[in-house]
Amino acid sequence: MAVKRPSGPSGSFILGSANQFREDEPNFLLESVKQYGALVYFRLANMHTYLLGHPDLIREVLVTQGDKFEKAPLDKTILGKFLGNGLLTSDGEFHRRQRRLAQPAFHTKRIQNYAEVMVDYANQLMDSWQDEAVVDITQEMMQLTMMIVSKTLFDADAITGAGDTAVTISSAMHDFQAVSNRDYQRGFSLPNWIPTADNRLRNKASAQFSQVMDQIIAGRRQTAVGGQVEDTGDLLSMLMLSVDEDGEFMDDKQLRDEVATLFAAGHETTSNALSWTWFLLAHHPEVEAKLHEELDSVLAGRQPTLADLPHLSYTLQVIKEAMRIYPPAWILNGRLALEDAQIGGYTIPKGSTVFVSPYVMHHLPQYFDEPEAFKPERFTAEFEKSLPKFAYMPFGGGTRVCIGNAFAMMEAQLALAAIAQKYRLALAQTELVHYKAQITLTPENGIRMRVMERETAVTPTAELAFA
Ligand code: HEM
Repeated sequence: MAVKRPSGPSGSFILGSANQFREDEPNFLLESVKQYGALVYFRLANMHTYLLGHPDLIREVLVTQGDKFEKAPLDKTILGKFLGNGLLTSDGEFHRRQRRLAQPAFHTKRIQNYAEVMVDYANQLMDSWQDEAVVDITQEMMQLTMMIVSKTLFDADAITGAGDTAVTISSAMHDFQAVSNRDYQRGFSLPNWIPTADNRLRNKASAQFSQVMDQIIAGRRQTAVGGQVEDTGDLLSMLMLSVDEDGEFMDDKQLRDEVATLFAAGHETTSNALSWTWFLLAHHPEVEAKLHEELDSVLAGRQPTLADLPHLSYTLQVIKEAMRIYPPAWILNGRLALEDAQIGGYTIPKGSTVFVSPYVMHHLPQYFDEPEAFKPERFTAEFEKSLPKFAYMPFGGGTRVCIGNAFAMMEAQLALAAIAQKYRLALAQTELVHYKAQITLTPENGIRMRVMERETAVTPTAELAFA
C-alpha cells in the first residue's frame, strides 16, 4: 500500500531535490518549511528524507520516540572513518555506556577548572597581534579553540615536543575535515580500500592521529601507580579513570576514538561561533558599544574569570544571538528510522532519514521576531522561558545533546570578554561574507578583520564594585 507522504519539493526524477539542496542547504530547508509546513518530505537521490519544522515533532524524534531512530548511515560512514566508534557516531547500548563513562569529564566543577586556560590562550593569541594588523579572524579563532581543546583534552603543553604533536594533530584534523566535507558534498563516501586521493589523505591523517594518541595514552599508562593512571586534570585523565558498572575501563582504541571525537566536535564549532560573533559585532556598533560598556564596568580592565561570568550577561546574550543566526551545527546528523514511526499525523517509514536543522528553527518568524536581525536584547530570561523547547537548539537535544555544551559556552563567553575588552575588530574587506554549509556553518572565504587596541574606560565605580 502506498504511504501517504507530507508534501514538499518534488525535484527531478533521478536526483530528487539533491541539486537544489546542494546549492544552498540551510536556505533550501528553511524555505521548504516555510512553504510546506512542519513536516516536509523530499528525496535526495535515493534517500527518502523527512524534515522537521516544529518543536513538538523534534521532541518526538529526539526524545519521546528516540529509540526508533539512530544516526544515519551516511554520517556514520563519513565521520566514522576518522572518529571510529566514538560518542558522535555510535548508537544504542554502546553509546549509552560511552556517554556514562565520558560524563564525569564534563562535570560542571571539572569544566570550571579550565576557565583560566581559556583566558590564558586568548591572551597569548592577542600577544601575537599588532595594533591595526589585518587578520583572517576565522583562522585566529580556529587556532585559539584548537589550543584550548589540546590543553584541556590531553594537556598538550605537558607533552614533550608539544609543538610537533600539535602540528601533527591539527593537520590530521584539518585533512579529515576537508575530506569529510567533500564526501558530504558528493553525498557518498567510497570504501577506504579504494585508493582515491581523498581516501589516501584521510587514511594517512587517521594513522598519524592514532600514532600520536597511542603515544600519549601509553605515556599515561607508564606513569600509572598501582594500575591507577594519574589525574593530570585534563579530560583524557577522566576518560582513563572512568569505569562502567562492570568495573571495566575504556580500552586504548576506544580512548583514541573518544579523544578524536572530542577534538573534532570541540574546536571548529566554537571557533565558528566566535568568528560569526565578531562579524556581527562589526556590523552593529550599537551592540558593540553596549558590550564594551558591560566589559568595562564588570572587569574594569582586569582579566575575566569564572566568577565574572554571571555578571557578563550581555556578553552571553551576544553569543546566543550569534549562534541563533549562524548556528555552527546548522543541521544535526541525519536520523535513520529503525521502524515505522508516527510523527505529526504521518508514518515515517522504516529506512527513511529524518533531518533536524537548528538553522531552520532559529530563522522561523513564529519563534523569533525579525529572524534576520541581530538583536542580543531578545535573549532575556523571560524570552528564553517562553520559547518552546527545541525552537532554539544550537547544541541539539535529547539523549544526544552536545556533551560539551557548558564547556563551549564558557569558552566563548570568556574568549569574547577577554578579547573584546582589549580590541575592536573591524571588517577589512569589501567582499560580502557568505556562509558555507559544511559539517559546520563556516564563513566561505574566511573574514579579514582589522584588530585595533581600544582604550579601556575604567570608571571608579566599577573599580570599587569589583576590586
Ligand atoms: C559552540 C560550540 C558547539 C556546538 C554548536 C555544538 C553542537 C553540537 C550538536 C548540535 C550536537 C548534536 C549532534 C546530533 O545530535 O547529531 C553535538 C554533539 C556533540 N558534541 Fe558538541 N557542540 C559544540 C562544542 C562542543 C565541545 C566544546 C565539545 C567537547 C569538548 C563537543 C563535543 C560533542 C560530542 C562528543 C557530541 C556527541 C554527543 C553524543 O552523541 O552523545 N561539542 N554538538
